[in-house]
Amino acid sequence: MCFVRRDFVFSVAILLLLFATTCLGSFLKTENKIKSAVFLSPKFELGPGSVINRYYYGIDFPKGHIALKSFNAEVVDEAGNSIPLHETYLHHWVVARYHQSKHVTHTENDTHRMLHNSNHVMVRNSGICQGNALGQYFGLGSETRGTETRVPDPFGIEVGNPEEVPEGFEEKWMVNVHAIDTRGTEDKMGCTECKCELYNVTVDKYGRTIRPDYVGGLLCCSDYAQCKLKEGFEGPKRSLYLRYTVKWVDWDDSVVPVKIYILDVTDSLKLSNNSKGINSDHNCKVEYRVDSCGMDHKEGNGCVDVMKTSLPLQTGGYVIYGVAHQHSGGIGSTLYGQDGRVICSSIPKYGNGNEAGNESGYIVGMSTCYPKPGSMKIMDGETLTLESNYNSTKEHTGVMGLFYILVAEQLPYQHLRHSTRSSFFMDSNNMLLDS
Ligand SMILES: *[C@@H]1O[C@H](CO)[C@@H](O)[C@H](O)[C@H]1NC(C)=O
Ligand SMILES: *[C@@H]1O[C@H](CO)[C@@H](O)[C@H](O)[C@H]1NC(C)=O
Ligand SMILES: *[C@@H]1O[C@H](CO)[C@@H](O)[C@H](O)[C@H]1NC(C)=O
Ligand SMILES: *[C@@H]1O[C@H](CO)[C@@H](O)[C@H](O)[C@H]1NC(C)=O
Ligand SMILES: *[C@@H]1O[C@H](CO)[C@@H](O)[C@H](O)[C@H]1NC(C)=O
Repeated sequence: MCFVRRDFVFSVAILLLLFATTCLGSFLKTENKIKSAVFLSPKFELGPGSVINRYYYGIDFPKGHIALKSFNAEVVDEAGNSIPLHETYLHHWVVARYHQSKHVTHTENDTHRMLHNSNHVMVRNSGICQGNALGQYFGLGSETRGTETRVPDPFGIEVGNPEEVPEGFEEKWMVNVHAIDTRGTEDKMGCTECKCELYNVTVDKYGRTIRPDYVGGLLCCSDYAQCKLKEGFEGPKRSLYLRYTVKWVDWDDSVVPVKIYILDVTDSLKLSNNSKGINSDHNCKVEYRVDSCGMDHKEGNGCVDVMKTSLPLQTGGYVIYGVAHQHSGGIGSTLYGQDGRVICSSIPKYGNGNEAGNESGYIVGMSTCYPKPGSMKIMDGETLTLESNYNSTKEHTGVMGLFYILVAEQLPYQHLRHSTRSSFFMDSNNMLLDS
């Protein structure tokens, strides 16, 4: 069944592509048309209380030298129905780009982080975490249905440029899906916050003992973990997918590239001086814990946990888009410039109903920033301060405080000036062909 669906979705995408290409082919000077395709991740199965945290390599993705304009996703069942967060909690999904050797014929999908060997090279975003942390191009969690991801014209995220792919390699995409089935669980919110006692976990997936003061977080809800069910609860397993919608335009000189930066409030940056200059050592721990404020603050306005970090951005530019990522309990996050100006403030929206996209108690959207291009500049080397606030009336484990920004190093006018030559030639070609 699912293969039929999958092929169907896929062929719709191909039809769209063919249609778009044919249309474009028949006009010489046409608008850079936005194309759109809907894909399904590989199928995953979840029973009550169970967890998946899978890495799927070589997923379906638009091909060619393109500029990505948006990426949206949600969890659906085999019939294509949207699954609400109180049944399957989407902890996060992350989409990453990599180059794979053409000699590799078969890639296992596994539960490990990005494959690390000479056949696979992850193409990280522009920063600023290091190592394995937060190198993705896209990624959201429970808020995915209600969060705008559109990159405004004439900007776009450039991918698939053949000149960037090393000889003998090809560009591919990976999606990591982390979902928790909370049907029939004793404590739904506890399961979504990965509380270790509910998962009866004392060692991580590599068999290492978990510190006793680690009460919740990713170590306790790894792939195949099981959250505590209500006494005697039984429910069917179901087959689910991450359904994702990608929008893009073909790459050309009129598209202005933006860089992706992801800042993490847990990043404890260490700067050191050496002969080659300043060396920055980012340590992005991705998640943290919000302790309960205790009885003394109960009715005051003191029950807000404020987490902050300051991080210099080596190369600045113009902020085109910004959005934060928080978990339940989050009450907003702000990115400040060195002079204290607000670069972007992103506030969670909580659902207050039952249906998918409006689930009560869950973050169903994050507000976004679209500063007028040119109006919000980050200077080269400017130190930014990221602040992430949580309601600490109750303890929250495994929370996140990320900030995702798109930065253009040039504005359209400056960009066009650089490419006048080629546009001039294109125009004269068109004139020749038209006459
Ligand atoms: C891994 O996922 C890809 C992409 O969706 C799928 O086509 C492939 O069959 C999977 N590979 C294995 C070994 O399961
Ligand atoms: C928790 O795990 C221990 C050992 O891993 C096991 O003996 C015990 O039965 C488990 N408890 C529950 C409630 O599953
Ligand atoms: C690095 O060294 C320079 C000059 O010696 C000094 O001004 C600067 O503060 C140092 N920076 C750090 C991060 O230690
Ligand atoms: C969410 O559900 C509540 C209760 O049914 C309803 O009042 C509200 O309008 C819904 N919100 C949205 C955005 O649909
Ligand atoms: C925190 O949550 C409690 C209920 O759990 C609520 O009464 C309080 O107003 C919230 N505080 C803030 C600052 O949102």
